[in-house]
Amino acid sequence: MTKRFISLLLAASMILALALCGCSSSSKETERKKRKSKKTEKTKITETIDDDDDDGKKSTKKNKDKDKDKKGTDDDKKNTQDDGTPKIGISMPTKDLMRWNMDGDRMKNLLVTEGYLVDLQYADNDVSTQVAQIDFLIDSGCDVLVIAAIDGSSLTDVLEEAKNKNIPVIGYDRMIYNTDALDYYVSFDNYMVGVVQGEYIRENLALDDNAGPFNIEIFAGDPGDYNAAMFYQGAIDVLKPYIDSGKLVVPSAQIDFSDVATNGYKTSDAQNRMDAILSAFYSDGMQLDAVLCPNDSIALGVENSLAAFYVGNYPVITGQDCDISNVKNIISGKQTMSVFKDTRNLVDQTVEMVKAIINGTDVFVNDTSTYDNGVKIVPSNLVTPIYVDINNYRTILIDSGYYTDADLS
Ligand code: BGC
Repeated sequence: MTKRFISLLLAASMILALALCGCSSSSKETERKKRKSKKTEKTKITETIDDDDDDGKKSTKKNKDKDKDKKGTDDDKKNTQDDGTPKIGISMPTKDLMRWNMDGDRMKNLLVTEGYLVDLQYADNDVSTQVAQIDFLIDSGCDVLVIAAIDGSSLTDVLEEAKNKNIPVIGYDRMIYNTDALDYYVSFDNYMVGVVQGEYIRENLALDDNAGPFNIEIFAGDPGDYNAAMFYQGAIDVLKPYIDSGKLVVPSAQIDFSDVATNGYKTSDAQNRMDAILSAFYSDGMQLDAVLCPNDSIALGVENSLAAFYVGNYPVITGQDCDISNVKNIISGKQTMSVFKDTRNLVDQTVEMVKAIINGTDVFVNDTSTYDNGVKIVPSNLVTPIYVDINNYRTILIDSGYYTDADLS
């Protein structure tokens, strides 16, 4: 019998013993039980999501096991245990945004090419779905977990299980808070993302040379994603002195993070808020000079709203991710810039980290002091972001092979 079976037996008898002792009522335990009771549902989630996950590109040995890999079933568990092939669990937030699809596909393909089993999950931007999926990945015997959290503060309990099973965890692009189970963090420098956006607005409006004042509106990302606070802070640190001096004016007066945050980075929420701002403050033809948008899904909402309700000169609009529709908008003049985080690079770094963990060699990090998750300083591997606009998109996005001309036409 496998080690797993023995540990299942041990786990079952421990649960029985705890139940007999009547000592299972902590809130953590209740939460854990809730997750367990979702087991059937979880398996369904895995199968549905993996169905459209099929990359079908690599013809390695592992793809011969594709059906097993896709199901994430007990068979899969046995397979991992028996032949010792490392299994990597990847938990991504959503398929709604193009970037997460590109991240997931590339990561899965590279890891499969390395000879690993891979279970890639998308959680539809729903925290309880992500918790259930991570729980499943842990139960199914993953050797390393790579997680892009939906809500960085909601994974404490489920990651406790990963820690108990000695499964190393890499936080992918988004920090995971309040847990000592997080071993590494790999991301772009998210504060720098905001700085790049703020500086772009400063340069484009020539705030240091022009008399102004200029009108600006401010958007921020999802309050549950700590990156959102970093983007905001980076940009505000550049722009705030100009707001304080009166050179930048925010007619809506909505400046604080809590007033400008956008749940789930939703295009529709951003559009609704921009509609309201335009109708309340700009319907008399007042000029809007800039809109700080932290990412492309929010920029898209703002652009939709401007197309419907704004007649003045087009403002400077920032973004992030270089999603295809946004790059098209950059080309057609509806968006000014997007911060480019070459996710190929981020994925490649992550795959190297996974390999190092599996092989027991040194994991590359370049920051061991900045990222405090509330429990520990998380060793981090940070990649530098750059911006893309009408002047450089061809060199950065097309010449580098990130997109083809056809993608953008
Ligand atoms: C990522 C961005 C992304 C946003 C919305 C952030 O955590 O860093 O690239 O646009 O989430 O998914």
